[in-house]
Amino acid sequence: MNSKKLVVFQSDDVFQYELENLIEVFIVRSAFELTMDNQKYRLIKETAQYGLEIHFYENRIDFRFFTDKVLDERTLFVVAGALKTHKNEFKKMVYDLLIKVEKPLSKWGILIGIRPVKIVHELIDEGHGLSDIRQILKESYYIQPDKIDLMMEIAEKERAYLYPVNQKSVSLYLCIPFCPTRCVYCSFPSNDLKKKGKYLPLYLERLIDEVQFAIDEIHKAGKYIDCIYVGGGTPTSLDASQLHKLFDAIDSKLDRRLLKEYTVEAGRPDTITAEKLSVMKAFGVDRICINPQTMNDETLLQIGRNHGSESIVEVMELAKTYHFKSINMDIILGLPGETIKDSAASIDKIIALDPENITIHTLSVKRASRLKEDIEHFELVHDKMVTDMLADAEARLRDSGLTPYYMYRQKKMIGHLENVGYAKKGYESLYNMRIMEEKHTIVACGAGAVSKICTPEENRFERIANFKGLEDYLNRFDEVLEKKKIINEN
Ligand SMILES: C[S@@+](CC[C@H](N)C(=O)[O-])C[C@H]1O[C@@H](n2cnc3c(N)ncnc32)[C@H](O)[C@@H]1O
Ligand code: SF4
Repeated sequence: MNSKKLVVFQSDDVFQYELENLIEVFIVRSAFELTMDNQKYRLIKETAQYGLEIHFYENRIDFRFFTDKVLDERTLFVVAGALKTHKNEFKKMVYDLLIKVEKPLSKWGILIGIRPVKIVHELIDEGHGLSDIRQILKESYYIQPDKIDLMMEIAEKERAYLYPVNQKSVSLYLCIPFCPTRCVYCSFPSNDLKKKGKYLPLYLERLIDEVQFAIDEIHKAGKYIDCIYVGGGTPTSLDASQLHKLFDAIDSKLDRRLLKEYTVEAGRPDTITAEKLSVMKAFGVDRICINPQTMNDETLLQIGRNHGSESIVEVMELAKTYHFKSINMDIILGLPGETIKDSAASIDKIIALDPENITIHTLSVKRASRLKEDIEHFELVHDKMVTDMLADAEARLRDSGLTPYYMYRQKKMIGHLENVGYAKKGYESLYNMRIMEEKHTIVACGAGAVSKICTPEENRFERIANFKGLEDYLNRFDEVLEKKKIINEN
């Protein structure tokens, strides 16, 4: 392979992360190695076929780019001023140089963050007009017109729900970090029921204690809960009586009439039963997720979902008889071995089931997933094909009356694309929009859950993370409760 070595000399971890991601926009990640070393740059210079040298000083940056393709076109930039205040300018310079020798793989320009639409909201809040914002996205971030259109469409839709920010209302998130089996692509800190199921009863006790404590703190702070999201993992890993116990414990502490949305990410069809759906309905759950990921039986088997497409259809038909306000279905484009014909067929089958929401993800090869560990056993889809799959999916969804209402990006996504939530008009999920735009307080309970306490007038939020591991969460529970007191201190 024509391996390329990129060398960066610097000491700021945040910037290293940004730069690494930016370089990946141009060069397939397996084809380069990013070396962070302040000492050995000469050695690397000798071996490099393709190099980027960046020297950071107190008040200037020396930046050199070279490649065997343009060796005689060496460029040296010296940037005055501190790096942090010039981060975007610097990223644009890297982009300008790389684009001389490589075609960008992404339409997102220098933007590598996971919440693109947040930028639009911030610009609107600063008083910029819409055409001004388009110009900024193009010139300051190098974002391509079709992605700008998408950002603007989503921002407009979200604003009706998110503004003005009501500081009295709070969303509540609960994490059930258990799943019947582990999917190959997943990196969520979820536990296999077969191995860790013995902890489930104690976990449920603790979670109930935490959530009741949190609700009391929210009320003491003079706030109220208007949105609940039970996610995971797979919340329907709990049996019907356990679900009843959990919902009842929540119900006894709050006024359900104030809820605008109550979601349970049931997720895996193989965990959903009539009894569990009845419990959800009885406690006012009005939005559930039944996630196929794909409707291709071979792929379902390969990714470890433990069920076929037939059970997705059956569960969906059963769920419809309960008349939840909204059902969401998640799909992942670019699953191993799939072609555009497969993804189109999946989308059409899902559209035929008529859910109110469909969320389109593109595969992200996460470090902590079995897919990454075992990569040589999977036939990964190419960036170009996933790009085509996404465009095809978008056209099919728009044709059937679903339009984008929220979006996020992830690290290591094939094709450097985006995940987009589609909804029928009036069925947009409040929680999904809130979590992306970070203007609203979310109090999160359970292992791995992260609360965000927002102070919108200062455009600031505080992140409070619970222990990720199940054992830590259970054994250090006093600390978990202690951290929850911050709700009442803000
Ligand atoms: C919190 S996860 C899990 C929900 C539920 N347990 C399930 O699997 O149906 C939410 C969604 O993220 C998506 N997802 C998870 N891992 C992913 C990955 N590595 N790449 C792309 N999408 C992913 C899946 O579509 C999944 O339904
Ligand atoms: S994708 Fe969902 S069901 Fe699969 S392991 Fe992850 S959280 Fe569990």
